[in-house]
Amino acid sequence: MRVIIVKDTQQMGRVAADLIVQDLKKRAVYVLGLATGSTPLSMYQELIRRHREEGLDFSNVISFNLDEYIGLPANHSESYRRFMNENLFNHININKKLTFVPDGTIKDLCDVEKFCDWYEGQIADVGGVDYQVLGIGTNGHIGFNEPGSSLGSMTRIKTLTERTRLDNARFFDNDINQVPKYSITMGIGTVMKAKKVVLLASGKGKADAVVESCEGAVSSKCPASALQLHQYATYVVDEAAASKLTLEGYEKI
Ligand code: F6R
Repeated sequence: MRVIIVKDTQQMGRVAADLIVQDLKKRAVYVLGLATGSTPLSMYQELIRRHREEGLDFSNVISFNLDEYIGLPANHSESYRRFMNENLFNHININKKLTFVPDGTIKDLCDVEKFCDWYEGQIADVGGVDYQVLGIGTNGHIGFNEPGSSLGSMTRIKTLTERTRLDNARFFDNDINQVPKYSITMGIGTVMKAKKVVLLASGKGKADAVVESCEGAVSSKCPASALQLHQYATYVVDEAAASKLTLEGYEKI
């Protein structure tokens, strides 16, 4: 696993954008796996800047988002579809018809299961994800794969832990009762199939999850630890998030 320690979130965004853009420019069709939340925002801002100022082209990009809450309409202020439109897709020349976000509005459980299979099929049909972007939860989750998730899991429904709902209450008027209880999320197995993965983390609150996932045992107790088994996984973390790492050999820039 490659670990790059950066000074702040702006540098984290630039370094992560560099990794993706180097790859993107080489491909006729490029498949990105995307995350929501606070962490990838600096990377999205950097990608938008490069599009505006340097003409970075996204017309060859297909994207698949990791997850979506169940029960929020697509136009809800906290739906991940809306988050992606507002924070990235509306500002670049990506074909929105080729931006996929799990559909959290399906009511019937059987239909959700069919949707999850369909989502996996869509990813497979375009040849798999080339670069998957991840954040990490304070409990080590990736996507909404909470501790205890099978390391081989694929896209499915997951119940959110109280820890995650508390962490995310900041987006819902600080009221945990407004945070949905369920989500659709790509599985850890889905993430592991991506050709390359970059996990971003910033702030002291992520230090325990970062050290456990990088240096602890590979275990479903810390879902991100599965990335230790990925052939091409990079962490880009700021100094606060890296503050509990103990091993030598990490890159510092
Ligand atoms: C969101 C996602 C989550 C977040 C994680 C960190 O699509 O997959 O795993 O990456 O909860 O969230 P932030 O970045 O808000 O700290």
